[in-house]
Amino acid sequence: MANKGLKLTILFLFIITYEYWSSHVQVVDFTYTGSTHLVNDVFILAGQSNMAGRGGVIDKNWDGIPRPGKILRLGGDLRWEDAHEPLHIDIDVNKTCGVGPGMAFANAVLRGDPRRFRVVGLVPCAIGGSGIREWSRGGRLFDGLTRRAAAAVQGGGEIRAVLWFQGERDTLNISDAELYKERLRKLFIDLRTDLKVPLLPVIQVCMFYNLYSLNSD
Ligand SMILES: *[C@@H]1O[C@H](CO)[C@@H](O)[C@H](O)[C@H]1NC(C)=O
Ligand SMILES: *[C@@H]1O[C@H](CO)[C@@H](O)[C@H](O)[C@H]1NC(C)=O
Repeated sequence: MANKGLKLTILFLFIITYEYWSSHVQVVDFTYTGSTHLVNDVFILAGQSNMAGRGGVIDKNWDGIPRPGKILRLGGDLRWEDAHEPLHIDIDVNKTCGVGPGMAFANAVLRGDPRRFRVVGLVPCAIGGSGIREWSRGGRLFDGLTRRAAAAVQGGGEIRAVLWFQGERDTLNISDAELYKERLRKLFIDLRTDLKVPLLPVIQVCMFYNLYSLNSD
């Protein structure tokens, strides 16, 4: 398998569609389901800085300030709610979900241009272990994505980008690996067509794994 410079492209598993609501778009129709909780179980947190928390602190400012009402997620029931981890909890239901890149991305978007981006809506659609063939047009995952995207813009929002983080499944079988690029190209074209955003940005995560450097000791 010494092809193409002995490089194997390993991509990771995730698609997350993001939509952000910009300031000039009226957001009139989303359902905000805030709720209050009674505390049942109390845990005391004690110690030093590791417990107090220093993650995300830059120049004495924490970059991950929670912004209630600023980042929403579209739940599996197609209703907006305040976004919190795990974003995919009711989407990737056959797996245990943890923290993905979605919240960090949304926070970066708001931080980067707070005047333009007012209320960011995340539309989680990723399914663990899925191969790209399952994402082809007409398939369950593609159709689920477009249905959720349509629900997401009902209130007047605009789809700004698709974030795509998938591919490890397609490294298991050489023919899937070889067909990946073409399948991916078709997927992006189909998404732009069916979401009716011809210039829709697709932000893709790639990881390059050089087998040669691993094996050449
Ligand atoms: C979860 O597993 C069930 C049973 O195999 C399947 O029908 C369903 O489509 C799966 N859901 C997702 C989101 O993959
Ligand atoms: C790889 O997947 C293809 C379908 O995409 C299948 O026809 C083929 O048998 C698989 N090959 C192996 C070695 O599993």
